Amino acid sequence: MKVVKNPKELMKILRKEKRSIGFVPTMGALHEGHLSLIRQSCKENEITVVSIFVNPTQFLPGEDFSRYPRKYEADKKICELAGVDYLFMPSVEDIYQKDEVLVKAPKIKGYILEGYNRPGHFDGVLQIVNKLLNIVKPTRAYFGKKDAQQLYLIEKMVENFYMDVEIVPCDIVRESDGLAMSSRNVYLSEEERKRALLLSKSLKRAGKLIMQGEKDVEKIREEMFKVLEKVEIEYIEVVNKNLDKIKSVEKGNSIILVAAKVGNTRFIDNLWI
Ligand code: PAJ
Repeated sequence: MKVVKNPKELMKILRKEKRSIGFVPTMGALHEGHLSLIRQSCKENEITVVSIFVNPTQFLPGEDFSRYPRKYEADKKICELAGVDYLFMPSVEDIYQKDEVLVKAPKIKGYILEGYNRPGHFDGVLQIVNKLLNIVKPTRAYFGKKDAQQLYLIEKMVENFYMDVEIVPCDIVRESDGLAMSSRNVYLSEEERKRALLLSKSLKRAGKLIMQGEKDVEKIREEMFKVLEKVEIEYIEVVNKNLDKIKSVEKGNSIILVAAKVGNTRFIDNLWI
């Protein structure tokens, strides 16, 4: 595995590449969720590129940019063992200039749900993903369904900017008790972890109700609110794959989304029906 820091150096290497390129962008502190994307990329492509970059522009003032876990040495080992070919680890200065051309998230879909609670967050996500996709020019790029709105907006950017890449959505990986894997789980104390578990529990409850034939979104939300009594709920929404709110669950085209604060940290989780 070759570790590359400079974007232009990576471009030079990859432009000579005739093989198919799979790309997994991350912010590091790698866990099984990231690894499942990496493994899928290694399976479906001849070479795999992983990036680790804690992107400052997607953190709002007061968010956890400075304390976001950074585990570069452990991450390198994980990538090496997983069979990654190139690990791209640029610095902020390698990536950003002072005054640059900006990508903007759509005014509606970029400012609902996560974007409502974190206005401008998706401008930063799209800015960096646009840069990374241009640097790597992968055949396929892998994104987790855990960040459902991020995935949707990246797919939109690729469509709107006629970018030549296949976006591959990947399933959510969970701990054995159901907690969705997240780099931010390390912030949780034992007691907080129990409360964080309520997010996936509420989704399980919703899934069960739907299996029993319930379709009414309000009834499902009501039940989820009950499960989530002990956390600071930010939203519980049921949307279709276009992120439009729906009144009735439709199999194959519904996503149940939940966001809540536990301690000082926001957590999100979702269930695709
Ligand atoms: P990060 O949170 O590090 O996540 C990197 C990728 O891993 C994302 O596509 C995310 O959806 C996926 N992922 C995270 N947890 C997962 C889980 N439990 N199961 C499956 N996939 C999971 O998302 C970002 O970084 C950044 O916003 C980024 C796209 C890299 C841009 O900076």
